[in-house]
Amino acid sequence: MYVCVSLLASFDRLIHPTTHKALPIMSSATTTTTPTPATTTAVNLEQVAYFLVTGASRGIGAKMAIETARKFKPGSVVVLLARSASGLESTRAEILAVNPHVTVVTSSVDLATASKELLNEILEKSLGKQPTDRFGLACVIHNVGTVGNIERKAIDMDDRAEWEQYFGMNVFTVAVLNSCFLRKFQSVPVKLVVNITSKACLVPFQSMTYYCAGKAARELYFRVLAEEEATAGITVLNYSPGPVDTEMTVELQANSNASDIRDYFKNLRDTTTILTTDQTTAKFLHILQNGLFKSGDHVDYYDH
Ligand SMILES: NC(=O)c1ccc[n+]([C@@H]2O[C@H](COP(=O)([O-])OP(=O)(O)OC[C@H]3O[C@@H](n4cnc5c(N)ncnc54)[C@H](OP(=O)(O)O)[C@@H]3O)[C@@H](O)[C@H]2O)c1
Repeated sequence: MYVCVSLLASFDRLIHPTTHKALPIMSSATTTTTPTPATTTAVNLEQVAYFLVTGASRGIGAKMAIETARKFKPGSVVVLLARSASGLESTRAEILAVNPHVTVVTSSVDLATASKELLNEILEKSLGKQPTDRFGLACVIHNVGTVGNIERKAIDMDDRAEWEQYFGMNVFTVAVLNSCFLRKFQSVPVKLVVNITSKACLVPFQSMTYYCAGKAARELYFRVLAEEEATAGITVLNYSPGPVDTEMTVELQANSNASDIRDYFKNLRDTTTILTTDQTTAKFLHILQNGLFKSGDHVDYYDH
């Protein structure tokens, strides 16, 4: 979740782990992004792709699925996961309206409880009899995310089952699905892994303990993956979408126990400066297609 500079006055600098120099985190050149030549990580989406998006029934995930799938060549397969069958169906219809030459598979699944076996079965079924080496690109967007309980302070969070439930969906299933996906599509020449992350993985925000802790753990998983697979044809992007008008930010504005957080989102809405899913998706595609990142980087909407 993105939160304004004023709210973060005391958190506006991080210390680099090895140089111990302060790193600006709220400026236009935030976090770990390293300028790289446009060719290194630029992804050509105009090919036959296998494309999986979690949390695709609404919000950022739905828009990213539609706008990315728009670019694929005929014969591509798009797989949409979330719980709401009607939400998935509406995303599917929107994809087919902009690109009727792709196959869109929806799977209504609760990612809080999905087992490795179930996730592998979803991948298998979406492929049918197609061999994986017919795809030039295999891309997964790990977009699913929840804010968790935002009505309690960190000091009061002693419910282990609630911790496990939160991390189960937002971290553990994400890592398990990622592993299943990359194993399945090993033979595809270009593999792209996108983690939808947040400023909250770098900066502590009141009332958002689960979210901050979960996003930090999740992003570090993907950064290790990028390091380990640097020569294996796997590109990783941690994209932080900025503050976006979705059900998640409506919930934060309504139910956060921190008045600064409620006021921040209210102000963004009152001034219509909250981002739209269209805006953040356009920025995401710009970064991706122009390779404005190094594999494993955390790239924020406001970085470009
Ligand atoms: N909005 C922002 O300002 C903002 C800022 C930074 C980062 N992000 C990140 O962007 C991502 C998308 O957020 P959003 O704002 O678009 O949120 P959203 O509107 O609440 O959408 C969340 C998506 O996740 C799915 N989902 C939730 N619980 C699920 C479960 N148990 N099993 C399967 N799917 C589940 C939802 O579908 P169902 O309910 O149908 O299952 C929905 O499609 C998240 O990772 C979020 O942390 C958002």
